[in-house]
Amino acid sequence: MAQASLHRYFASKSDSATASALTGKEPLEDNSRASDASDASTKPAHDACIDEASAQAQQTDSKRSTCPPGICIAQIEQGHINAIKQLTSTTLPMRYSDKFYKQAVSDAAINSLTRVALFDGQPVGWIRCCLEGGGASSTSGHQTPPSQIYIQALCLLGPYRGHGVATQLLDSILRSLPVQEEQRASSIYAHVWEQNEDALGWYERRGFKRVLLLNQYYRRLRPCGAWVVRRELDSL
Ligand SMILES: CC(C)(COP(=O)(O)OP(=O)(O)OC[C@H]1O[C@@H](n2cnc3c(N)ncnc32)[C@H](O)[C@@H]1OP(=O)(O)O)[C@@H](O)C(=O)NCCC(=O)NCCS
Repeated sequence: MAQASLHRYFASKSDSATASALTGKEPLEDNSRASDASDASTKPAHDACIDEASAQAQQTDSKRSTCPPGICIAQIEQGHINAIKQLTSTTLPMRYSDKFYKQAVSDAAINSLTRVALFDGQPVGWIRCCLEGGGASSTSGHQTPPSQIYIQALCLLGPYRGHGVATQLLDSILRSLPVQEEQRASSIYAHVWEQNEDALGWYERRGFKRVLLLNQYYRRLRPCGAWVVRRELDSL
């Protein structure tokens, strides 16, 4: 599909602000902060695709297991960071430190649990997770709690929503997790603002359950509660 057609593919299915969002150079939402996306990777998208993304495109069974045209799911690189910062600040109300973004590239463990969605080589969404708990206990002999995956950030620019791209980001993380019993994470969870019904619904349709409401979680939001949404991974 030609680039112009691909832009129309997403633009025709999105609600508003599509032209600015597709270029990634202007904010999408009122709470956005301007920043410079000019150093984002300009590599052709398919150069950066990770193996799983290409493999899944081979699957026959499935509208629901393939990326939309022009999108690839890739490992995050240094050149993506400015664009990721910008899209995160326009789509999520919380602010993250520079370290938070840099670590996604420099920290091998976090890098392995981070994915970026690229359209024409440009980041349009990302997921960053980390592994919690499950440390070795050989010296103390104490039982350690099982490890879990924490979704620290998940967001997608508006025009790219509703096509399964965020699902592909999540699935890419889940597919990459170790399957051996001793290394397996028991669950994956996230905090979701209590008023964010879209995200709560999205997680619930993907097997997450609301397990706990933390009433004083967000300092900048009113109301300030967050749902902990969790999905057990035993069944994977
Ligand atoms: C949360 C967020 C990432 C979800 O994005 P999204 O576009 O709705 O999610 P997807 O890209 O997976 O698209 C899913 C929809 O695409 C449609 N779809 C089309 N093709 C599809 C495919 N191959 N696979 C899956 N879904 C597909 C489905 O209708 C699906 O809707 P469903 O949830 O009812 O099943 C997005 O709303 C967002 O960035 N929100 C702002 C930030 C935010 O709130 N983040 C979460 C905070 S924790």
